[in-house]
Amino acid sequence: MDRVHGARPPVVWAALCEMAFDIFSPVAGRDETVHLAEETMKLWRARPTSAAEPETSGLSMIARNDYAQAVWSESDMKRRVAVVPGDGIGKEVIPAALRVVEATGAAVDFTIFDWSADRYLKDGTTIPADGFAMLARDFDAIFVGALGDPRVPTNIHAKEILLGMRFKMDLYANVRPVKLLDEALCPLKGVKPEHVDFVVVRENTEGPYVDAGGVLKQGTADEIATQEDFNTRKGVERVIRFAFELARRQGRKKVLMSDKSNVMTFAGGLWQRVFKIVAADYPEIQTQHMYVDALCMHMARDPKQFDVIVTNNMFGDIITDLAAALQGGLGMAASGNIHPGKTSMFEPVHGSAPPFAGKNIANPIGAISTAAMMLEHLGFAKESERITQAVLAAVQQKKITADIGGSLGTKEAAEWIASSVSRT
Ligand code: NAD
Ligand code: IPM
Ligand code: MN
Repeated sequence: MDRVHGARPPVVWAALCEMAFDIFSPVAGRDETVHLAEETMKLWRARPTSAAEPETSGLSMIARNDYAQAVWSESDMKRRVAVVPGDGIGKEVIPAALRVVEATGAAVDFTIFDWSADRYLKDGTTIPADGFAMLARDFDAIFVGALGDPRVPTNIHAKEILLGMRFKMDLYANVRPVKLLDEALCPLKGVKPEHVDFVVVRENTEGPYVDAGGVLKQGTADEIATQEDFNTRKGVERVIRFAFELARRQGRKKVLMSDKSNVMTFAGGLWQRVFKIVAADYPEIQTQHMYVDALCMHMARDPKQFDVIVTNNMFGDIITDLAAALQGGLGMAASGNIHPGKTSMFEPVHGSAPPFAGKNIANPIGAISTAAMMLEHLGFAKESERITQAVLAAVQQKKITADIGGSLGTKEAAEWIASSVSRT
């Protein structure tokens, strides 16, 4: 499945073209600007990549600059998406979501990769050696199902593929929107859709997830296990800034930082200091702080108080399962692993749910809403909104799977949403 690459223009071409875009696009006509954006993107895609690439280089301006983004989204060039269905229900919900994307008619090309437990058990491949560089170079986004299979108890393939993408591609912000679509789906009494509408921004490249630590005196009564919690100034600052930028872009009013700084004083201290510094750049946005234990209590009692929550990798993982329950369960929750300007990765929050696999019962809405997030990220705002509306209609008309009170199978629920999308 690896692609063959032709000669690549030097990176400086891309940089020059990008400068030209910056200078001329504000004064050029729309057609010229679209053309310029396309040419710039072609050059940028063909550039030699290196780990040392500066974060702000390249077409990251396409992602950052609203005007460029609007123009780019009018271009005819197809966006390229790498698809990794993975294991278990990932193999069912991803094709279901692709069917819905197809129904939008968005100009997207999919390339399917078979990285999974099956592939690992067959030939030992988790992800090929050049996999991450290839994804960054050849694709505009990655769409992942789930990884995890009881036949691979070490979970090594999931670690290398999923955490590999997050870490090695430096996708530092895990964005997990939490939105209740129908009162019937929320386990809390009297909670209505307008009461559950917030976004969790989870740090995605640090914390205990770096897996640094060790075991001493293993197998003895004195055994000691350590697991280090990494928090860098750079990592903390960029994800907090991302949360404020997201709040500003989405017209949200509050950013809440959650930690456990009353106990984990060193890491928490850094988060506290950086949060104050970054917040000063966003005077129109209210700030709040909550210890993560209290946050869980408030989320279950009164979710309407939340707007944007920013937190570390581990707390973000835990609170987003709780937040998924507010929306109707794990089958409903969507996420994007983002580094503005780099190839980002989109995946439903749920895992491979082995007991559900192969039975056509998994809820495809988490994956379908994730695909909508990805389309929006790629510049297909209208197509994304059509999917969101069709999902809402499916929930309201109970054209849904059993976990959320319907009677349709995975395929049938997705088909209903796809045909609803085609009609809009
Ligand atoms: P899980 O999310 O796979 O499933 C937990 C429970 O949530 C299921 O038993 C089911 O009741 C419900 N559920 C999840 N997705 C659903 C859907 N689409 N429709 C209906 N119900 C759904 O979590 P788990 O059982 O803890 O983990 C199973 C495997 O998946 C493990 O190997 C784990 O490591 C892996 N995992 C992978 C990811 C990922 O790839 N992003 C995320 C979480 C877990
Ligand atoms: C998630 C999952 C992953 C995580 C696992 C599968 C590594 O639970 O995406 O929420 O802990 O981040
Ligand atoms: Mn999780």
